[in-house]
This record gives sequence, C-alpha cells and structure tokens, in this order.
Amino acid sequence: MSELNLILLGPPGAGKGTQAEQLRTEFELPHISTGDMLRQAVAEQTELGELASSYMDAGNLVPDDVIIGLLLQAIGRSDARDGFLLDGFPRTIPQAEALGVDLEKVGRKLTGVLLIEAPDEEIVRRISGRRVNPKSGQIYHVDFDPPKVEGIDDVDGSELVQREDDKPETVRNRLAVYHEQTAPLADYYEHLGLLHRFDGSPAPAEVYSRIRGTIATLKLEETI
Ligand code: AP5
Repeated sequence: MSELNLILLGPPGAGKGTQAEQLRTEFELPHISTGDMLRQAVAEQTELGELASSYMDAGNLVPDDVIIGLLLQAIGRSDARDGFLLDGFPRTIPQAEALGVDLEKVGRKLTGVLLIEAPDEEIVRRISGRRVNPKSGQIYHVDFDPPKVEGIDDVDGSELVQREDDKPETVRNRLAVYHEQTAPLADYYEHLGLLHRFDGSPAPAEVYSRIRGTIATLKLEETI
C-alpha cells in the first residue's frame, strides 16, 4: 500500500503548525508534533515534562536520547502505520539518522521533506504575536489571524495564551539553535532527493496551495 510519510521542516514560527492543521485534515494524516507532545508532558507535570521544561524555556533542544525514543514510539502506533506528518522532528542529524534506520527496519521510507522558509525578522514578528488555545492547540496571530473576540478561541471559548518560549530573548536563542543544529538537515535531505522548499512569506492559504500541489504529485508518484 502507498503511504505518505512526510516531514515539515523549518525555523520556529515559519508556519509549520499552521500548515499542519490543514494538511492533516485534507490528507488524513496523523500530525505528530514533538513540541505539542513535550508541552503536554510539561502541563501534566510528568517526569518527561519536568526534564523537558528547562530546555524548552531556554529555547534549547531537548537531548536526542530523550526525544528519539518518544518519536519512534509515536510513529509505531497503529494510526501512523499508513502515513504520518512529522512536525518539529527531526531537528538534528542524529535524530534524522535514527528515524531513517527505524523506518528501514520495518520496510518503510520517507515520501518527502517539506521545508518552509521565512526570514528571521518575519519570524520574530510572527512569534511575538502568536496566541494559542492551550486545550486544542489552535493557533492565532494578533494581527495576521486574529480571533473574533480578542484573547478568546473562536471554537470553544477558551482563553488564548502566549507560549512560555515565545518571549523575545528566548526566540532569539531558538533561532540561533535552528541555524546551528537544524538547518543542516536541508542539505542532508536534499542529498537524499527528498527536499521540497517553500517560501513561507505569503499568506497561509497561498503557502498551503503550493504545498498541497507538491503533496498531490508525491501521492501520484507513490501509486505508479
Ligand atoms: P516546537 O513546538 O516544534 O516549536 P518550533 O519548531 O520552534 O515551531 P513553532 O511552533 O514555534 O512554529 P511553527 O513553524 O509551527 O509556526 P506557527 O504555525 O505556529 O518546539 C518547541 C520546543 O520543544 C523547542 O524549542 C525544543 O525545546 C523542544 N523540541 C521540540 N521538538 C524537538 C526535537 N525534535 N528535538 C529536541 N527538542 C525539541 O506560526 C507562527 C505564527 O505565525 C502564528 O501566530 C501564525 O498564526 C502565524 N503565521 C503562520 N503562517 C503565517 C503566514 N504565512 N503569514 C502570516 N502569519 C503566519
């Protein structure tokens, strides 16, 4: 059976989560976000959450040995057996290598890596205005995608919050960490013939229509 096994790659605030919301609905793919998994663990005050929060609050990466096990477990789950959309993983070369080895072991492979790019100054503007529903994960922006009533989720009426790691000084470190540790993955996946680049600067609907076109082509190629 053909599967869509996709990775969303890109700097913080590029729009990965925004695009994932639409992709998972249209292509019926489980959205596996390591950031969401870690934030849930922090909220539930689990052992993982306690370990992760100090790294996340400083804008640093959680150690590879912690995150790799968590992610491989998630893609082994039954709902991810026919395809998945990874968001926020891999973020380092060792994470990418571990994913490749794990998929190969079970005869699976990646279909494509979707890199959403945006300049640093745009990222800072986006992240500083981001608000989220802590219950559903729904993402808003105070200027670019505001809720109908300020500070309140359109769907369930929850109070919107700003993420702990969205403070300006933390954002600057997250960007530095991205350029140093995650950006090299673009070359890594380009070399494997899997990379597709998207300009994340246009409005979300425009970015989505370009990504959608690429995925439709990838899907077609998988079936022939
Ligand atoms: P994670 O949650 O993965 O955060 P991130 O990669 O930094 O990405 P963001 O969620 O900040 O941004 P996004 O690209 O999803 O943008 P969004 O769509 O929200 O990770 C958080 C932390 O967890 C890490 O720092 C690390 O500590 C840890 N972690 C997670 N995974 C890990 C791993 N694999 N290894 C180690 N540690 C890990 O959009 C941003 C804003 O812009 C929104 O307000 C949105 O409305 C707006 N927007 C989106 N698109 C557009 C557009 N086209 N035009 C205008 N506005 C837009």
